[in-house]
Amino acid sequence: MSVVVIVGAQWGDEGKGKFIDYLASQADVVVRGQGGNNAGHTVVVGDQKYALHLIPSGILYGATVNVLGNGIVFDPAGFFAEYDALQAKGIALDNLKISRRAHVVFPYHRELDARAEAAKGEHKIGTTKKGIGPCYMDKVERSGIRVGDLLKPSFAEKLRLQVDHKNQIMTALYGVAPFDYQAIYEAYSAYAERLRPMVCDSVAYLNDARESGKNILLEGAQGTLLDIDLGTYPFVTSSHPTSGGFTIGTGLAPNRIDQVLGITKAYTTRVGAGPFVSELDNPIGDRIRQQGNEFGVTTGRPRRCGWLDLVIVRHAVRVNGLTAIALSLLDVLTGFDRVKVCCAYRLDGVETLDFPADLDDLAACQPVYREFDGWHEDITACTSYAQLPDNAKRYVDYVEQFLGVPVAFVSVGPKRSQTIIRQKIF
Ligand code: GDP
Ligand code: IMO
Ligand code: MG
Repeated sequence: MSVVVIVGAQWGDEGKGKFIDYLASQADVVVRGQGGNNAGHTVVVGDQKYALHLIPSGILYGATVNVLGNGIVFDPAGFFAEYDALQAKGIALDNLKISRRAHVVFPYHRELDARAEAAKGEHKIGTTKKGIGPCYMDKVERSGIRVGDLLKPSFAEKLRLQVDHKNQIMTALYGVAPFDYQAIYEAYSAYAERLRPMVCDSVAYLNDARESGKNILLEGAQGTLLDIDLGTYPFVTSSHPTSGGFTIGTGLAPNRIDQVLGITKAYTTRVGAGPFVSELDNPIGDRIRQQGNEFGVTTGRPRRCGWLDLVIVRHAVRVNGLTAIALSLLDVLTGFDRVKVCCAYRLDGVETLDFPADLDDLAACQPVYREFDGWHEDITACTSYAQLPDNAKRYVDYVEQFLGVPVAFVSVGPKRSQTIIRQKIF
C-alpha cells in the first residue's frame, strides 16, 4: 500500500502524463488534486496518442479508478468534450469519480480570463484562457459554485447571483454584452444530470481507499515553478502544483503521503511569459523545440526551450520533498556535440544555488554552466541503464549527484516501453 505524488519539477509539460500512465498499471486509484483543463497530459499507447486535460491519465487502464479531487476546478463543457472523444475511441469511462467539493468553471470565468489578459497588454501572463484564475478567485472569495451545488435546487439562485454580479463587473470594466442566465442555467442543469452518477465525497473515498491498502497515485498538473506561492509569481497558475497542494487538494494528510516523484525534463521548457535564466533564444533552442516537438498540448503555442536548470530542480527537490526523480525526454538531447547544465546562478557577481524569491532578481541572474560531451547514438531503444552511452550516463549521474536524489526512471521516448527503471516506486 502506498500513496505516491507525481509533480512537475519545472514549468510544466515534463512528461507527467507518460509517467502517470506508466505507473497506473500498478495503481488502484489515480487522482487529480489541483488545476483544471489548463493541463495537457500526453499519453502514448501503441500508435495511439491521447491528450488529456481534465480526465486523469490513469484512464487508459480499465481497472484503475480515476478521481477528480476537491482541489481542482471543473469545466463541464471541457470535461464532456474530452469524455465523449475518449468514449468514441473505445476507452471505458465507468471508473471516473468527481468530488462534490470541486469548484465549477462557468463561461464568465473564461471570458474574464481572456479580458484580464488583454487588459494587461505587454504584462500579460500568457494564461491558457480556460478560466482557471477567475474560478479560483471565486473560490477564495467564497462565492464559487461547487460540483455538489449543481445537483441541488438551490443552484438556480446561486447561479442567478453570480451571473448578475459578473455581468455588472464585465459591463463596467470591459463593456461586454451580458451573459444570458437562462442559457447557462439550462446547459449546466443538463451537465448536472450527466454528472450525478459520478459525483462523490472524494475525501472519504480516498481515505477509505488508503486505509484498505490501495495504491494511490496523485497526478500533479502544471509544475513547481507555476505554483502560486513557490513559483515565479505572478507568472504562475492559480493553484498549488507542489506536493503540499495535494494534501489540501485531495484530503489525504501530509503523513499519508509515502513518496514524491518529481518529473524532470532533461532540459527546460516554459510556455507563457516570465524570466527564464537558461533560455536558448537561438538555433540550439529551436533545435530542442523541433526534436522534442515542444508545442503546447492545450494551446498549441511553441514552448520556450533552454538547457537543464538544476537551480530550479534543486528548489523543486526542497519544496516538494522529492524522494525520487524521473528524468524525461533524454533522447531529445541526442546529437548535440556538447550539452550544458545550469548548475548555479550569478547575481550581482555572486554565485548562488538558491532560486530567487524576487522576480527582478531572477531576471537579472546569469546562468553558470557546466559542459558535458554529448552523445550521438540513438538511445530510444535502450531498456536498461547499462545500455545508455557513457556520455549520457555521465549526464544522468551528474544530475543525481547534484540533487542528492535518486534518478529512479530515465525516459527515452514517449511510449510506455521507452522507460528505463533504476528503482521501483510501487
Ligand atoms: P505533461 O503535461 O507533463 O504530461 O507533458 P506534455 O504531455 O505536455 O509534454 C510532454 C511531451 O513529451 C509529450 O508530447 C509526450 O508524449 C512527450 N514525451 C514524454 N516523455 C518523453 C520522452 O522520454 N521522450 C520523448 N521524445 N518524448 C517524450
Ligand atoms: P501541464 O499539466 C505548462 C501556464 C500558462 C501560463 C500560466 C497561467 O500540461 O504541465 P493558467 O491558464 O493556468 O492561468 O495559466 O501557467 N500553464 C502551463 N504551462 N503546462 C501546463 O500544464 C500549464 N498549465 C498552465 O502557460 O503561463
Ligand atoms: Mg502538458
